[in-house]
Amino acid sequence: MTSISIVVPTYKEAENLAALCKRLDEVMAETELSYELLIVDDQSPDDTIAIANSLAEQYPLRLIQPDGRERDLSLSVLDGLREAASDIVVVMDADLSHPIEKVPELVGVLASGDKIFVAGSRYVAGGQFDRDWSFWRFLNSWFATLLALPLTRCSDPMTGFFAVRKHDLPDLEKLLPIGYKIALELMVRGEFGNIKEVPIAFKDRAVGDSKMNFRQQLNYIRHLRRLYLYKFRGWAEFVHYGAVGASGFTIDIFFYYALQLFGVEHMVARALSFWPAVSWNWALNRVTTFGERARRPRARQWVEFVATSLVGFSMNWGIYALLTAKVAFFDEYRILALISGIIGASVFNFTVSTLFVYSEKRGE
Ligand code: GDD
Ligand code: MN
Repeated sequence: MTSISIVVPTYKEAENLAALCKRLDEVMAETELSYELLIVDDQSPDDTIAIANSLAEQYPLRLIQPDGRERDLSLSVLDGLREAASDIVVVMDADLSHPIEKVPELVGVLASGDKIFVAGSRYVAGGQFDRDWSFWRFLNSWFATLLALPLTRCSDPMTGFFAVRKHDLPDLEKLLPIGYKIALELMVRGEFGNIKEVPIAFKDRAVGDSKMNFRQQLNYIRHLRRLYLYKFRGWAEFVHYGAVGASGFTIDIFFYYALQLFGVEHMVARALSFWPAVSWNWALNRVTTFGERARRPRARQWVEFVATSLVGFSMNWGIYALLTAKVAFFDEYRILALISGIIGASVFNFTVSTLFVYSEKRGE
């Protein structure tokens, strides 16, 4: 008889546990599978713990109570995965949002090949949302999903309902999830190329409250950033660096025009406006683009950054001077000469920055 472990994270789910156990037991009784239910509770202040303990007398339920860490849904799932006695693991919510009768189907799909990740999906044909979702919630979820699409080939990477084999997972100690998106973390860092989706109808909970909040959404952005860095490395940094550069560009333009308003000659204005812009870029890159890397002393790094930028700047200013002096078109549209200079120099700057100025390893 194949056995499976079902991991259910809980926080304040006292009212849902009995129904969950009953339904799961009915569904499993119809199959050839045996199961254990792992309730991973983060010190719920309600009766969740007492109820889980009493349900354990009737059902194959084990209560896991991690301590010594912050309360977190993803970390609870990881604790459950560690404790799971079976190789086959299903993860689902306690609040009956996920259709329990689909558990055997998820497990069946998992058995259809090697290294598969089976996701219960709302977006695949046959999947469904709760009809009561407000337009706002729908939009929010849709946008969050969109941001994750480049990371995996799964149409519902936000799902909390999935099945995997433990031995296909990466070393759990190396995972760095934050917040809610544990499935996304496992798919990306587990390098699952084969993601199978089983359509599910997601129902909003009838009892209790969702613990999703604004903080979880910020966590999601931080989590996404980590995964983009993991998956796209230098490219993710390049795009970020480009965005920082664009903000420096507006500062550059502002000073370039402002100085000329005060009668400064355009070549000189071009040379001066560089300084506030380059300092702004340096500061922003220090805390954001390369924020995970260990930091060097400010003064030394600023000098290095300016030094490399100076080389880039010579290119930048050189291109500007050359184009405006030699080409009538660029003298008429000097802003285009300025932009050409910036583009030429940026590619150079990024290369040097990533290789030397911020070369310390990322300290995740
Ligand atoms: N142990 C633990 N610790 N469990 C938690 C925590 C926590 O900090 N926060 C929430 N849970 C449990 C809840 O008790 C529930 O069983 C499950 O995790 C999902 O929490 P909800 O608060 O009900 O989440 P949701 O309905 O807003 O979100 C669900 O749907 C999303 C997609 O719309 C989850 O499945 C998400 O993972 C999913 O992205
Ligand atoms: Mn829920």
